[in-house]
Amino acid sequence: MVFNPRNGEEAPLSAMQLEVLALKKERNAVILAHNYQVDEIQRVADYVGDSLGLAYQAAEADADAIVFCGVHFMAETAKIVNPAKAVLLPDMEAGCSLADSCPAEKLAAYKAANPNVYVVAYINCSAAVKALCDVICTSGNAKTIIENVPADRDILFVPDQNLGQWVSKQTGREMQLWPGSCYAHVLFTQQAIEALKLKFPEALVVAHPECVETVRDNADVVCSTEKMIGFCQNSDAQQFIIITETGMIHRLQREAPDKTFIAGPTDTCACNDCRFMKMNTIEKLRNCLRDMSPQIEMDEDVRKQAYVPLKRMLDWSK
Ligand code: 13P
Ligand code: SF4
Repeated sequence: MVFNPRNGEEAPLSAMQLEVLALKKERNAVILAHNYQVDEIQRVADYVGDSLGLAYQAAEADADAIVFCGVHFMAETAKIVNPAKAVLLPDMEAGCSLADSCPAEKLAAYKAANPNVYVVAYINCSAAVKALCDVICTSGNAKTIIENVPADRDILFVPDQNLGQWVSKQTGREMQLWPGSCYAHVLFTQQAIEALKLKFPEALVVAHPECVETVRDNADVVCSTEKMIGFCQNSDAQQFIIITETGMIHRLQREAPDKTFIAGPTDTCACNDCRFMKMNTIEKLRNCLRDMSPQIEMDEDVRKQAYVPLKRMLDWSK
């Protein structure tokens, strides 16, 4: 019997998962997976985490190839820090509504009209947008990054207005907000959460900063997906309502098995999946390792320019 390589549980892996592990070895590849990936993928990954942890893992990867089980901007980030390595994404269509909301041409036009603005970009944006920015941040380090921006500069925060508004409140720093949002996180409503709280009155509400303000203001904690793990492990509470993408529940159940996690509700359904994150399947992961395709390709000038704000983020948040 094959055991789960990461947690020692007696859960047998499927034939497809075993094939992935064999191909990974053959290709000398590492598999990096975001917390929102399906459990089948999380269980064969070398590392599962949030955007910040994944960016550090990508920067430190000691392998010939990186398979990124997440969305396109995450795989691009891995390529920015690893130009010589093959970076594979199981489904090239796995995009992100936040990245789509800020096209590079629009940001370039804004910068041309406002040349002194200091641009802080949430990592959920394209490499071309990163190339136009001063520094990158994730939900895990946004506060630290904003606190490092020179006090005499006007900040433009792109592309997530919700994360921007949250970090502005946290730091007391005013900033202009790009009007982008995550299509999945804005579906959570305070009304639906309150209705669920009637069923689970003891449960703590754990929300991602991409949620809207009313949801964030009424949550017990607002944090990145990785910080959710530590919060739930260290809390005395036994039940948690998780206001983010449902893939998060797999990781939480594995890391805090004695606790109960309830998927956050929207007004129209009981749970919430990011359609882009869920485009990756174990079969597509097997296929991309077998075929060494599809791979991230990037213009070298764009990559070099995008590396500067990304490296600044990695240095500032150490
Ligand atoms: P985290 O960095 O908190 O994992 O968030 C990434 C993301 O895309 C949230 O929707
Ligand atoms: Fe983008 Fe939202 Fe999906 Fe995260 S959950 S990848 S922000 S669309």
